[in-house]
Amino acid sequence: MMKIRIIFFGIMLMNQLLATGQNRASYQIVPLPQHIEETQGAPFTLNAQTTIYIGDELLIREADFLVEYIHHKTGHLLEVTDKKEKNNQIQLTVKADNNTDIQWPQETSEDYRLSINKNLVTIEGKGSAGLFYGIQTLRKSLPMTKGEVVLPPVVITDSPRFAYRGMHLDCSRHFFDVEFVKHFIDILAYHNMNVFHWHLTDDQGWRIEIKSHPRLTEIGAWRSGTVLGHNSDLDDSIPHGGYYTQDEAHQVVRYARERHITVVPEVDLPGHTKAVLTSYPELGCTGGPYEVGHRWGVYADVLCIGNPKVYDLVRDIIDELSTIFPSPLFHIGGDEAPTVRWEACPKCNAVDRHGMTYQGYFTSKIVPFLEAKGRRAIGWDEILYTGADSNTTIMSWRGSEPGAEAAAKGHDVVMTPTSHCYFDYRQSDDVLHEPAYPGGGFITVEKVYSLEPVPQKVDEATRKHILGVQANTWAEHLQTGGMVEYMTLPRMAALSEVAWTQPEKKDYKDFFKRVTRTTEDYESYHWQYARHLWPERRNNQSLE
Ligand code: ACM
Ligand code: ZN
Repeated sequence: MMKIRIIFFGIMLMNQLLATGQNRASYQIVPLPQHIEETQGAPFTLNAQTTIYIGDELLIREADFLVEYIHHKTGHLLEVTDKKEKNNQIQLTVKADNNTDIQWPQETSEDYRLSINKNLVTIEGKGSAGLFYGIQTLRKSLPMTKGEVVLPPVVITDSPRFAYRGMHLDCSRHFFDVEFVKHFIDILAYHNMNVFHWHLTDDQGWRIEIKSHPRLTEIGAWRSGTVLGHNSDLDDSIPHGGYYTQDEAHQVVRYARERHITVVPEVDLPGHTKAVLTSYPELGCTGGPYEVGHRWGVYADVLCIGNPKVYDLVRDIIDELSTIFPSPLFHIGGDEAPTVRWEACPKCNAVDRHGMTYQGYFTSKIVPFLEAKGRRAIGWDEILYTGADSNTTIMSWRGSEPGAEAAAKGHDVVMTPTSHCYFDYRQSDDVLHEPAYPGGGFITVEKVYSLEPVPQKVDEATRKHILGVQANTWAEHLQTGGMVEYMTLPRMAALSEVAWTQPEKKDYKDFFKRVTRTTEDYESYHWQYARHLWPERRNNQSLE
C-alpha cells in the first residue's frame, strides 16, 4: 500500500513538473548563443544514470566542472567515463586544438557546437576553451530542479564576438582576500568573461608581495584610516590593508587559467603611487613625508621620473611579476598622473627627455623592461596622449573616442568607457536606496546593454584593433565582497552579451526575460545582485 502511494505521488509530482515546465531546459540564456536551432524529435532525459564521456583524459577538468554544475542544479552526481555509450550520455570532445584564427587573450578556439537528441548530448569544442563555453551553455540551460531534466532537441553553434571580454577589480582601495578573488573569477566564468584585470596597486594600498622591495607591503599595504563617504572631512581612523603573497597570486593565476581566464596584473604607474612613495619616500620629487592615501581621487605626488632608483624599482617589480603572471600583456596604469611635481623638480628637469612629455619619457623607459620579459604594455588612454608607441595597447576609459583614435594609429584597444562600463557607479537614480557611490555617475543595466564597442568611425581595416570590452569595479566605496557582487550583478550579464553576442541578435526586452532567469542561478549560488529590474523582489522594505 505504502509503495503504491509513493508511486502515485511520484507520478503526480512528475506531471506537475512537466505541466509547469520546471524540469525543462531552456536555451534562452545569457549571453545569447549565436545560433540556436530547435530540432524535431524526442527530448533527452538527464537523470542519475546519465554518464559523461571524455575520449581524452586531458578533458577531465572540463568534465569535472560539468559534474559540479549538474550536481548543483539537479542533485545528480554523474559518473565520468571513457566508455562511449549510445544512450543517456553527455559526450565531450575537442575537435582540433589548433590555434589558428584566434586572437589574444584566446589561448585556444572558443567556438563550440552543442547538439542534443533523444539519446545523446554532444558538446564539441573547437578548442578546449570552446568546450568550456559549451559546458557553460548547458549549465545555464538547466533549470534548478531536483530530479530528471528534459532537454528538448537542439543544435547550438556558437562563438564569441570579441576575443577580449574583461572584468576589472580594484583590490587597492579595499582589500579583498584571495578566497573572494577566486569567487569573483567564478562569477566571471559564469558570464563567459576571459580576462581578469587585477588592479593591484594604487594610492590607498600596495597589494602584491615584491620580495626585493619588502617595504611595499610592510608599509605600503596599510593605511591608518579611511575617509568617510566621498571625501568628507571625517576619517574613521581604522587601519585597513592586506596584500597577496606571491604564492597566493600564483594560485589565482592557476585558478583563473583552469576557467580559461587570463589574469592581467596592473601596477599603476607613475601616478596613483602614494603607497610606493610612503614605502620609499626618496622616489618622490619632494622626498615626502608621504602617507598611504585615506582619501579618494588624484594626488599630486607621483614617481620622480628623474631618479634612476625609480627605474630600478620598476624593473625589479616587472622581473618578479613576470614569474607569476604569464599574460603577454601587463597593465602599467598611466592614468591621472599630474605634472605639477615634475615641473617643479630639478631632477626631473635635468633629464634629456628627447622631446618627450614627462610621462612619455617614463613610459619609454619602462616598456623595454617588459619587452625584456617578452611582455607588452597595456595602459589607460592617457598613455596615448603622452606619446606611447603603437606597440602599446590602449584601454579607452574617458569615452570611446580615445580608443577610436588609438585604433586609427595602429594600437590595439580595449573599450571600457566610463559612460557604460564603470560598475562602481550607481545603478538607479533612487539615490536614497543606493548603497555605493555617493555623488558618482549613474549606469543602468540597460545602459550597459546598449554599448556598441566599435565606434562608427572605426573603419573595417581598423576594426581588428578593437580587441574587446571590459567593465571596471573601482572599490573606493565597496568594503565587502558582497558589495562587489551587488555592483557587478546583473550588469555583468549585460556586459557579457555586449562582449559575446553579435549586435544584430541583441534585444533588450528579450535580454530582460533571459536575465530574469539568470538571477535564479545567482540566487542558487547566494550571489548578491541589484534588484532594480525586479522591484517586487526588494524584500524587507520599510515604508520610506
Ligand atoms: C581611471 O578610472 N582612473 C582609469
Ligand atoms: Zn622629480
